[in-house]
Amino acid sequence: MKITVFGSGYVGLVTGACLADVGNQVMCMDVDQRKIDQLKQGIIPIYEPGLEEMVKDNQAAGRLHFTTDAKEAIDFGLFQFVAVGTPPDEDGSADLKYVLAVAKSIAEHMTEYKVIIDKSTVPVGTADKVRNTVLEVLGKRGEQLEFDVVSNPEFLKEGSALDDFMKPDRIIVGTDNPRTAELLKELYAPFNRSRDRLIAMDIRSAELTKYAANAMLATKISFMNELANLAERLGADIENVRHGIGSDSRIGYSFIYPGCGYGGSCFPKDVKALERTARDYGYNAELLSAVENVNDRQKLRLFEKITAHYSGSLQGKVFALWGLAFKPNTDDMREAPSRVVIDALIAAGAKVQAYDPEALHEAKRIYGDQPAGLEYVDNQDDTLKAADALIIVTEWKQFRSPNFEQLSLLLKDKVIFDGRNMYDPKHVRQNGLEYYAIGRP
Ligand code: UDX
Repeated sequence: MKITVFGSGYVGLVTGACLADVGNQVMCMDVDQRKIDQLKQGIIPIYEPGLEEMVKDNQAAGRLHFTTDAKEAIDFGLFQFVAVGTPPDEDGSADLKYVLAVAKSIAEHMTEYKVIIDKSTVPVGTADKVRNTVLEVLGKRGEQLEFDVVSNPEFLKEGSALDDFMKPDRIIVGTDNPRTAELLKELYAPFNRSRDRLIAMDIRSAELTKYAANAMLATKISFMNELANLAERLGADIENVRHGIGSDSRIGYSFIYPGCGYGGSCFPKDVKALERTARDYGYNAELLSAVENVNDRQKLRLFEKITAHYSGSLQGKVFALWGLAFKPNTDDMREAPSRVVIDALIAAGAKVQAYDPEALHEAKRIYGDQPAGLEYVDNQDDTLKAADALIIVTEWKQFRSPNFEQLSLLLKDKVIFDGRNMYDPKHVRQNGLEYYAIGRP
């Protein structure tokens, strides 16, 4: 099949590469000339395990193509995936200018039937806006070409995006045209072999499904963080509570890990956007506001523990900090809890020696090459040099079993602040270290 993908960012690239990998012809289009030039040379702008190889292999096999030429891209595919960004507006709603610009461009250039597929996470009602935009432009052109608009939200997790695409839990297809649903079924058949995971529904429900999934997961996390804060006051251990409730299959073990808050490009943005949509439709979504507020507060919990430990005076203290990315296996620092912790520490006069296996270059992009109070260290152990204490913000695998004896010798104040509950408190304390975690006595 012939497929065009608009937007060569995270979602667009993964979608394009995976669709090419199963034998389709795919054209990826982006307006950023530099990005396209680099992609043609096999240089990938983001870190995602396996993606670079997949892009290179499929390019070499002649199945994956890149262009900045809209006309060429639109002529190419029957399927026109829209995977451009929807950055949050100041008021939290998703900005649709890129999505609608693509719709307009498709309408300007199309000469035959096209299936326009919204892959970006867009507010409920966007497919209607896309359809109206296309109709308007076709009207101006005096053309009566047929097209369909489909909502087909992505559920990729950073760090396991290729697997999520290749072996999805579900494929949501929102369309009001049964013939289009059949086309999409055919397109997704290679990813839908073991049992039928494709769920077809009306367009608005498909659009809402994406937000509902992310809001539910964010709610689970904020719920656990709230209980963790309560457990601290009650002298209970949230890790025991987590095991206790996770064993109930109705609750389940996933997404109930307490910590220093959720980050990333999806949860914070989508919870806000859904809240905003609710308000636009005259409904006050109180639970969503609470989920967001709990998370904002949670990102500061580590800093609060640190200040309490030092009785409010952090001037001149040196902190080793492990983990900058918003979660392991990514270099993404969007809405990362590390940023809140680092900003607060620097504002309080402390110095931070930070290490992350993948995100250092991203930190440099955000904070500049030589920011005051922040030093980038390209090796985990070197962060400990002359450090007073250690802070853990992201649960990278390589942080799982450090040499506590050595830590106890190196850290001047012999204290660890762990935002991800990585260690057994008893074990850490046996090594003469003080240990602060989230929701643990
Ligand atoms: C998420 C959704 O999982 C995915 O389906 C959607 O398409 C995009 O958003 P992603 O943002 O890549 O994916 O990361 P995810 O693994 O879901 O983690 C999100 C955040 O929640 C991270 O900051 C993580 O550290 C945090 N988290 C996750 C917790 O604090 N506790 C948990 O139990 C699980």
